[in-house]
Parts: sequence; structure tokens; C-alpha cells
Amino acid sequence: MSLPIILVLNGPNLNMLGLREPEIYGHAKLSDIEFMCREVGETLGLDIDFKQTNHEGIMVDWIQEARGRVAGVVINAAAYTHTSVAIHDALKLLENTPIAEVHISNPKERESFRHVSYIEPLAFAHFVGHGAQGYVMAVEAVAERFGKVNGDR
Ligand code: DQA
Repeated sequence: MSLPIILVLNGPNLNMLGLREPEIYGHAKLSDIEFMCREVGETLGLDIDFKQTNHEGIMVDWIQEARGRVAGVVINAAAYTHTSVAIHDALKLLENTPIAEVHISNPKERESFRHVSYIEPLAFAHFVGHGAQGYVMAVEAVAERFGKVNGDR
């Protein structure tokens, strides 16, 4: 039997982690974060589908394709967090699929244009300011939520 899939989505400029403003985002590269997610996924018996795009429409396509396919979503929409009604609307299509929001930094402690999140109302859990570890926490939280939801059926 195939393992439940957790989709880990990353938005624009996160492919530059490690080089990008290390004083804010730290030194971990996106490939390091992917490795961490795969490790925790293996421990929990989950398949991790880890993706990054710089393009809003591609993110929307991936979210639409996740409908009925994945057990949960971890999303760091990066700058689109603060602007994208399209990603908000796409996430709404996922209905009962648990969604966790991740940010490496804490956007609420930064410039005011980062204080709004269009993802926030659709996510049951938020991990901000925990660096790369926030992704691991989010995968664990989604797995727990998914397990509980299944257990309730
Ligand atoms: C970010 C925070 C966003 O405000 C920013 O645009 C990013 C990264 C984070 O992980 O801290 O690109 O999502």
C-alpha cells in the first residue's frame, strides 16, 4: 500500500536559501530543509512531495492537483503569502485536508507589508520564526492532525 503524501510547498526566492539574507533566513539551503522533511516523513511513515516555484500560477496548479491526492499540506508561500488571493482560493479547494503554514522568519515582526497572511485563515497551525526546524514541526503537526482526522472516521 502506498504511504500518505504530505505536500511541502515553497514559494518564490526560497530556492536561494543559504545565499539569501542569511542574517534573517539562516544558512540552511532548501535542499537541507527537504532532507529534514524526508527524514521526519520516513519516521512517521509518510511520503514527502517537496516542491518550490517562483511562479504564482504554478503554485495554484500544484494546489489544485493536490485535491484528493495528498493527506496534508505544509506551505511556505514566501512573498505570495502577503499578496495572493489566487493561492488562498486554491487552498480553499482542499477542504478537509490539513494545511500548516510555515515561515522561516517571523513576518509579523518585520515590515508592515508582511503582517497580512492570506494563508493564515486556512491553516490549522502556524510555525513562524523557528528557522528550518519549523518545517519539521509542521510535517509532524499535519501528520498528527491527519491521524486524528482518520481516527475519527
Ligand atoms: C518568508 C517570509 C516572507 O515575508 C518572505 O517574503 C519570504 C520568506 C519566511 O519564510 O520567513 O520569502 O516566507
